[in-house]
Amino acid sequence: MTLPVPERVPRHIAIIMDGNGRWAKARGLPRAEGHRQGTENLRRIIRACVEFGVEILTIYAFSTENWRRPPLEVRLLMTILETVIDRELRELNENGVQIRHIGRLDQIAPALQKKIQYACDFTKNNHRLILNVAFNYGGRDEIVQAVKRIVREGIPVEQINEDLLNRYMYTGDLPDPDLIIRTSGELRISNFLIWQGAYAEYYVTPTYWPDFNKDELHKALEEYNHRKRRFGKTDEQLSEDEFK
Ligand code: FPP
Repeated sequence: MTLPVPERVPRHIAIIMDGNGRWAKARGLPRAEGHRQGTENLRRIIRACVEFGVEILTIYAFSTENWRRPPLEVRLLMTILETVIDRELRELNENGVQIRHIGRLDQIAPALQKKIQYACDFTKNNHRLILNVAFNYGGRDEIVQAVKRIVREGIPVEQINEDLLNRYMYTGDLPDPDLIIRTSGELRISNFLIWQGAYAEYYVTPTYWPDFNKDELHKALEEYNHRKRRFGKTDEQLSEDEFK
Protein backbone atom coordinates (compact mmCIF):
# COMPACT_ATOMS: atom_id res chain seq x y z
CA MET A 1 0.00 0.00 0.00
CA THR A 2 1.41 3.41 -0.90
CA LEU A 3 0.83 6.09 1.65
CA PRO A 4 1.60 9.70 0.82
CA VAL A 5 4.96 10.71 2.26
CA PRO A 6 4.28 13.42 4.84
CA GLU A 7 5.52 16.91 4.02
CA ARG A 8 8.03 17.08 6.85
CA VAL A 9 9.69 13.76 7.54
CA PRO A 10 11.81 13.61 10.70
CA ARG A 11 15.47 12.96 9.89
CA HIS A 12 15.90 10.89 13.02
CA ILE A 13 13.20 8.69 14.60
CA ALA A 14 13.78 6.74 17.81
CA ILE A 15 11.43 4.01 19.00
CA ILE A 16 10.78 2.34 22.34
CA MET A 17 9.37 -0.94 21.03
CA ASP A 18 7.18 -1.81 24.01
CA GLY A 19 4.34 -4.27 24.54
CA ASN A 20 5.53 -7.57 23.05
CA GLY A 21 4.69 -9.40 26.28
CA ARG A 22 1.22 -7.88 26.62
CA TRP A 23 0.51 -8.54 22.94
CA ALA A 24 1.23 -12.22 23.55
CA LYS A 25 -0.68 -12.37 26.83
CA ALA A 26 -3.78 -10.86 25.22
CA ARG A 27 -3.73 -13.78 22.77
CA GLY A 28 -2.92 -16.49 25.32
CA LEU A 29 0.52 -16.97 23.72
CA PRO A 30 3.94 -17.23 25.38
CA ARG A 31 5.99 -14.01 25.71
CA ALA A 32 8.51 -15.50 23.27
CA GLU A 33 5.87 -15.35 20.54
CA GLY A 34 5.39 -11.65 21.28
CA HIS A 35 9.12 -11.07 20.80
CA ARG A 36 9.06 -13.09 17.58
CA GLN A 37 6.21 -10.99 16.19
CA GLY A 38 7.98 -7.87 17.45
CA THR A 39 11.07 -8.85 15.49
CA GLU A 40 8.99 -9.41 12.34
CA ASN A 41 7.48 -5.99 12.84
CA LEU A 42 10.90 -4.41 13.09
CA ARG A 43 11.63 -5.57 9.52
CA ARG A 44 8.42 -3.89 8.32
CA ILE A 45 9.18 -0.65 10.14
CA ILE A 46 12.77 -0.50 8.83
CA ARG A 47 11.39 -0.91 5.31
CA ALA A 48 8.77 1.79 5.91
CA CYS A 49 11.40 4.19 7.26
CA VAL A 50 13.51 3.71 4.12
CA GLU A 51 10.42 4.33 2.01
CA PHE A 52 9.45 7.51 3.89
CA GLY A 53 13.00 8.86 3.61
CA VAL A 54 13.93 8.72 7.31
CA GLU A 55 17.72 8.97 7.57
CA ILE A 56 18.28 7.58 11.06
CA LEU A 57 16.26 5.05 13.07
CA THR A 58 17.24 4.30 16.67
CA ILE A 59 15.58 1.30 18.33
CA TYR A 60 15.58 0.36 22.01
CA ALA A 61 16.17 -3.40 21.88
CA PHE A 62 17.65 -4.15 25.33
CA SER A 63 18.14 -1.75 28.20
CA THR A 64 20.74 -1.88 30.97
CA GLU A 65 17.75 -2.64 33.24
CA ASN A 66 16.53 -5.59 31.14
CA TRP A 67 19.17 -7.84 32.80
CA ARG A 68 16.68 -7.96 35.71
CA ARG A 69 14.22 -10.03 33.64
CA PRO A 70 14.04 -13.81 34.19
CA PRO A 71 17.27 -15.42 32.91
CA LEU A 72 15.41 -17.37 30.22
CA GLU A 73 13.96 -14.20 28.76
CA VAL A 74 17.34 -12.44 28.86
CA ARG A 75 18.81 -15.38 26.97
CA LEU A 76 15.97 -15.22 24.45
CA LEU A 77 16.55 -11.50 23.79
CA MET A 78 20.27 -12.17 23.25
CA THR A 79 19.43 -14.99 20.86
CA ILE A 80 17.01 -12.77 18.97
CA LEU A 81 19.75 -10.23 18.23
CA GLU A 82 22.07 -13.02 17.16
CA THR A 83 19.42 -14.52 14.86
CA VAL A 84 18.50 -11.14 13.42
CA ILE A 85 22.14 -10.53 12.50
CA ASP A 86 22.53 -14.02 11.02
CA ARG A 87 19.31 -13.90 9.05
CA GLU A 88 18.92 -10.28 8.06
CA LEU A 89 22.41 -8.88 7.61
CA ARG A 90 22.65 -9.57 3.89
CA GLU A 91 19.26 -8.05 3.10
CA LEU A 92 19.85 -5.04 5.34
CA ASN A 93 23.17 -4.48 3.60
CA GLU A 94 21.61 -4.79 0.13
CA ASN A 95 19.07 -2.17 1.15
CA GLY A 96 21.74 0.31 2.17
CA VAL A 97 21.22 0.04 5.91
CA GLN A 98 24.19 0.96 8.09
CA ILE A 99 24.01 -0.86 11.42
CA ARG A 100 25.44 0.80 14.50
CA HIS A 101 25.41 -0.35 18.07
CA ILE A 102 24.81 2.04 20.96
CA GLY A 103 25.30 0.88 24.54
CA ARG A 104 27.75 -1.25 26.51
CA LEU A 105 29.36 -4.11 24.66
CA ASP A 106 31.50 -5.20 27.59
CA GLN A 107 28.79 -7.12 29.51
CA ILE A 108 27.62 -9.05 26.44
CA ALA A 109 28.89 -12.58 25.69
CA PRO A 110 32.09 -12.41 23.58
CA ALA A 111 30.57 -14.33 20.64
CA LEU A 112 27.66 -11.91 20.39
CA GLN A 113 30.00 -8.93 20.81
CA LYS A 114 31.95 -10.17 17.80
CA LYS A 115 28.79 -10.63 15.78
CA ILE A 116 27.61 -7.10 16.58
CA GLN A 117 31.00 -5.66 15.64
CA TYR A 118 31.03 -7.66 12.42
CA ALA A 119 27.54 -6.40 11.45
CA CYS A 120 28.58 -2.79 12.10
CA ASP A 121 31.80 -3.17 10.17
CA PHE A 122 30.16 -5.02 7.26
CA THR A 123 27.60 -2.24 6.72
CA LYS A 124 29.69 0.80 7.59
CA ASN A 125 29.75 2.24 4.06
CA ASN A 126 25.96 2.20 3.64
CA HIS A 127 24.13 5.50 3.74
CA ARG A 128 20.46 4.97 2.98
CA LEU A 129 19.42 4.47 6.60
CA ILE A 130 21.48 4.45 9.77
CA LEU A 131 20.01 1.88 12.16
CA ASN A 132 21.21 2.47 15.72
CA VAL A 133 20.53 -0.62 17.77
CA ALA A 134 20.41 0.34 21.45
CA PHE A 135 21.38 -2.95 23.07
CA ASN A 136 22.51 -3.04 26.68
CA TYR A 137 21.89 0.69 26.52
CA GLY A 138 21.04 3.11 29.33
CA GLY A 139 20.90 6.88 28.98
CA ARG A 140 22.37 7.60 32.40
CA ASP A 141 25.14 5.09 31.83
CA GLU A 142 25.90 6.74 28.48
CA ILE A 143 26.40 10.08 30.25
CA VAL A 144 28.59 8.44 32.92
CA GLN A 145 30.74 6.79 30.22
CA ALA A 146 31.04 10.13 28.38
CA VAL A 147 32.18 11.93 31.54
CA LYS A 148 34.72 9.17 32.31
CA ARG A 149 36.26 9.51 28.83
CA ILE A 150 36.39 13.28 29.12
CA VAL A 151 38.20 13.04 32.47
CA ARG A 152 40.51 10.27 31.24
CA GLU A 153 41.50 12.38 28.24
CA GLY A 154 42.29 15.30 30.55
CA ILE A 155 40.00 17.79 28.74
CA PRO A 156 40.41 21.19 30.46
CA VAL A 157 37.34 22.34 32.36
CA GLU A 158 36.98 25.53 30.23
CA GLN A 159 36.45 23.34 27.16
CA ILE A 160 33.54 21.48 28.69
CA ASN A 161 30.22 22.57 27.21
CA GLU A 162 27.12 20.97 25.71
CA ASP A 163 28.69 20.56 22.26
CA LEU A 164 31.66 18.74 23.72
CA LEU A 165 29.53 16.42 25.86
CA ASN A 166 27.36 15.73 22.86
CA ARG A 167 30.37 14.56 20.87
CA TYR A 168 31.16 12.04 23.61
CA MET A 169 27.71 10.41 23.44
CA TYR A 170 27.29 7.22 21.37
CA THR A 171 25.41 9.29 18.80
CA GLY A 172 28.03 12.08 18.80
CA ASP A 173 28.20 12.46 15.02
CA LEU A 174 24.44 12.29 14.46
CA PRO A 175 21.62 14.82 14.79
CA ASP A 176 19.37 14.44 17.83
CA PRO A 177 16.14 12.46 17.39
CA ASP A 178 13.32 14.65 16.07
CA LEU A 179 10.62 12.20 17.07
CA ILE A 180 10.61 9.58 19.83
CA ILE A 181 7.82 7.02 19.59
CA ARG A 182 6.73 4.72 22.41
CA THR A 183 4.30 1.92 21.77
CA SER A 184 1.94 0.28 24.31
CA GLY A 185 0.83 3.45 26.02
CA GLU A 186 3.36 3.88 28.83
CA LEU A 187 4.14 7.52 29.58
CA ARG A 188 7.79 7.01 30.52
CA ILE A 189 11.14 7.55 28.88
CA SER A 190 12.76 4.53 30.61
CA ASN A 191 16.34 5.82 30.44
CA PHE A 192 16.27 6.10 26.62
CA LEU A 193 18.23 8.88 24.91
CA ILE A 194 17.82 11.18 27.88
CA TRP A 195 20.58 13.52 26.65
CA GLN A 196 19.66 13.46 22.95
CA GLY A 197 15.89 13.68 23.51
CA ALA A 198 15.97 17.12 25.15
CA TYR A 199 14.10 18.77 22.25
CA ALA A 200 12.48 15.73 20.64
CA GLU A 201 8.78 15.50 19.97
CA TYR A 202 7.25 12.55 21.81
CA TYR A 203 4.50 10.32 20.42
CA VAL A 204 2.86 7.61 22.50
CA THR A 205 0.35 5.14 21.10
CA PRO A 206 -1.59 2.42 22.96
CA THR A 207 -0.80 0.00 20.10
CA TYR A 208 1.52 -2.84 21.14
CA TRP A 209 4.79 -3.05 19.21
CA PRO A 210 3.93 -6.15 17.09
CA ASP A 211 0.88 -4.25 15.75
CA PHE A 212 2.66 -0.94 15.16
CA ASN A 213 2.64 -1.21 11.38
CA LYS A 214 3.38 1.18 8.51
CA ASP A 215 -0.07 2.80 8.84
CA GLU A 216 0.62 3.50 12.51
CA LEU A 217 4.02 4.96 11.66
CA HIS A 218 2.38 7.15 9.07
CA LYS A 219 -0.09 8.37 11.70
CA ALA A 220 2.82 9.27 13.97
CA LEU A 221 4.49 11.20 11.14
CA GLU A 222 1.26 13.09 10.43
CA GLU A 223 0.97 14.04 14.07
CA TYR A 224 4.61 15.16 14.00
CA ASN A 225 3.71 17.38 11.04
CA HIS A 226 1.17 19.21 13.19
CA ARG A 227 3.60 19.86 16.01
CA LYS A 228 5.31 23.21 16.23
CA ARG A 229 8.89 22.84 17.36
CA ARG A 230 9.89 26.00 19.20
CA PHE A 231 13.29 25.06 20.65
CA GLY A 232 12.62 27.58 23.43
CA LYS A 233 11.68 30.42 21.06
CA THR A 234 8.36 32.35 20.79
CA ASP A 235 5.90 31.95 17.90
CA GLU A 236 6.85 35.45 16.67
CA GLN A 237 10.52 34.56 16.52
CA LEU A 238 9.69 31.37 14.61
CA SER A 239 7.73 33.37 11.98
CA GLU A 240 10.66 35.79 11.64
CA ASP A 241 13.04 32.83 11.21
CA GLU A 242 10.96 31.63 8.25
CA PHE A 243 11.75 34.85 6.35
CA LYS A 244 15.49 34.78 7.05
C1 FPP B 1 9.29 -4.81 24.81
O1 FPP B 1 8.32 -5.74 25.04
C2 FPP B 1 10.35 -5.17 23.91
C3 FPP B 1 11.64 -5.51 24.27
C4 FPP B 1 12.11 -5.75 25.63
C5 FPP B 1 12.68 -5.62 23.25
C6 FPP B 1 12.48 -6.75 22.35
C7 FPP B 1 12.48 -6.27 20.95
C8 FPP B 1 12.30 -7.06 19.91
C9 FPP B 1 12.06 -8.51 20.06
C10 FPP B 1 12.42 -6.49 18.54
C11 FPP B 1 13.69 -6.82 17.83
C12 FPP B 1 14.87 -6.99 18.68
C13 FPP B 1 16.19 -6.92 18.35
C14 FPP B 1 17.17 -7.40 19.34
C15 FPP B 1 16.74 -6.38 17.09
P1 FPP B 1 8.08 -6.13 26.56
O2 FPP B 1 8.65 -7.48 26.77
O3 FPP B 1 8.62 -5.07 27.45
O4 FPP B 1 6.53 -6.13 26.61
P2 FPP B 1 5.61 -5.94 27.91
O5 FPP B 1 5.94 -4.60 28.50
O6 FPP B 1 4.24 -6.01 27.34
O7 FPP B 1 5.92 -7.10 28.83
